[in-house]
Amino acid sequence: MAHGKFLSIEGGEGAGKSTQVRRLADELRARGLDVIVTREPGGSEGGEAIRDLLMQGEVKRWSSHTEALLFAAARADHVEKVIQPALGIGTWVISDRFIDSSRAYQGVAGGIDDAAVLALHGFGSRGLLPDRTLVLEVPPEIGAERAAARDGAAADRFAARARAFHDDVAAAFRRFAAAEPDRVRLIDAGGDVDSVAADVIEAVADLLP
Ligand code: TYD
Repeated sequence: MAHGKFLSIEGGEGAGKSTQVRRLADELRARGLDVIVTREPGGSEGGEAIRDLLMQGEVKRWSSHTEALLFAAARADHVEKVIQPALGIGTWVISDRFIDSSRAYQGVAGGIDDAAVLALHGFGSRGLLPDRTLVLEVPPEIGAERAAARDGAAADRFAARARAFHDDVAAAFRRFAAAEPDRVRLIDAGGDVDSVAADVIEAVADLLP
């Protein structure tokens, strides 16, 4: 049986990831593929329990180091319980965020070495990387506006951080795309939903059976 493909979608706040994840899943299913959609932090029972620890409370509740460990632990459970089993039976997996979020948020913006973030990933998740990672880019002020309209006063610990933090995250994703052009693709997500969805499918076209 063919191994499924693993796709991750990344981007800052308000980039429209969840809409595009749904659209991509629909498009792949229409082509006859089995697809599951999942997310990080979370995606498995244990991962979701760790998510609650991560997302609630004060901005400074966890240090960058503790946070990196918690994200890596959540990811290890998600990979072991959900992602690997699905890929093994030929199902395609689309994850709303994966390792590149840890590299951008805890790594570049949080001040932890990329090598250290990747070492945790090597230990926890055997270094599993997506076959393709799509980074949805919107100008930070538009992303912040969209996220505020969506979340209102319910912004989580991450959304509540300063503009400079989000600028560092955006720059980090661009750097990853430049360093690994085969795996990581930038998508301009400033346009309307249909044209962004078309760009997303185009960016995985070479992986389709
Ligand atoms: P979430 O509510 O899923 O929102 P979003 O729509 O932005 O994806 O929030 C997840 C937050 O966790 C997001 O701000 C990014 C952050 N995050 C990390 O800092 N490191 C990670 O490894 C992951 C997966 C997420």
